[in-house]
Amino acid sequence: MASNIVVVGSLNMDLVVQTEQLPRPGMSVMGGRVTRFPGGRGGNQAVAAARLGGQVLMIGRVGRDENGEALIRSLEEEGVDTAFISRDPETPTGVAMITVDLSGQSTAVISPGANYQLLPGLLAEAHDVIRKADVLLLQLEIPIETVEYCAELAHQNGVTVVLNASPARPLSLSLLKNVDYLVMSQMEAGVLTSSPGDGLEAATAAASELAETGVHGVVVTLGKRGIYYHVDGQQGLLAPPAVNVVDRNGTGVAFLGALAVGLGSGLPALQSLRFASAAGALTATRRGLRSALPNRQQVEELLGEPIFAREEDGGG
Ligand code: RIB
Repeated sequence: MASNIVVVGSLNMDLVVQTEQLPRPGMSVMGGRVTRFPGGRGGNQAVAAARLGGQVLMIGRVGRDENGEALIRSLEEEGVDTAFISRDPETPTGVAMITVDLSGQSTAVISPGANYQLLPGLLAEAHDVIRKADVLLLQLEIPIETVEYCAELAHQNGVTVVLNASPARPLSLSLLKNVDYLVMSQMEAGVLTSSPGDGLEAATAAASELAETGVHGVVVTLGKRGIYYHVDGQQGLLAPPAVNVVDRNGTGVAFLGALAVGLGSGLPALQSLRFASAAGALTATRRGLRSALPNRQQVEELLGEPIFAREEDGGG
């Protein structure tokens, strides 16, 4: 059975320019040609989940402009249901201005545009799809009141709520009580807790502190070291499968999409984390973001075994 995933999140047109070095404050640098990529944390995670076999519906808001149409088309091409993406008559589609240097380091400025108009009052017609989802996948590039509202609605209806706490910002306890899985980088965990720092000790402390708020699955992503998890009282470091890394840009996106698919398909939590880590690792072997995201079969090949029961076995 395909997992039924609802993503409520951002849609941005990414304008990417490469420079030799990133500009420092007060400095201008010359760059190459600007390339447009469909993006937004929400849209990217929706694509990741769809490629991995999830049945994905995206709730979001774009402007009535060319960027908005292109973003919707890009999701449809991936099989994502876009029926609940609305068009704002006054505010343009969100844009992310991204600069990448020769070593792959980047900076981004996001102009949220219509994403910030996605307010709870607009979601009345989407109640049913949220209530009936297996997993609700959220990030923090839309108004926080919308994140809180959707998490509460989903939680009250027994839907598994996965929140990617990115970009970093403090979160209320009342939101965390409605979250089942909280996923963030170590830097983001530092913003949410009293445990800043980048060692394993800080990750352990941050995960324990967040687990005490009632979130039953806390995941701190640690780049090449893998993830630190604190799930249902079990905790530990999960190293990713060994791969030849060329670009880490899409690893977080793939991880979140895969985690949603795993949980939504009824895989146990640790098995879902293993699937997600492998999806992230495989993405790092290819350049780009959406173009680097793998499908389910490729992830299972990396893991060396089928993770999901096959249809013909009577499973999902
Ligand atoms: O995760 C990268 C994404 O973050 C980009 O696509 C950009 O739009 C921002 O939302």
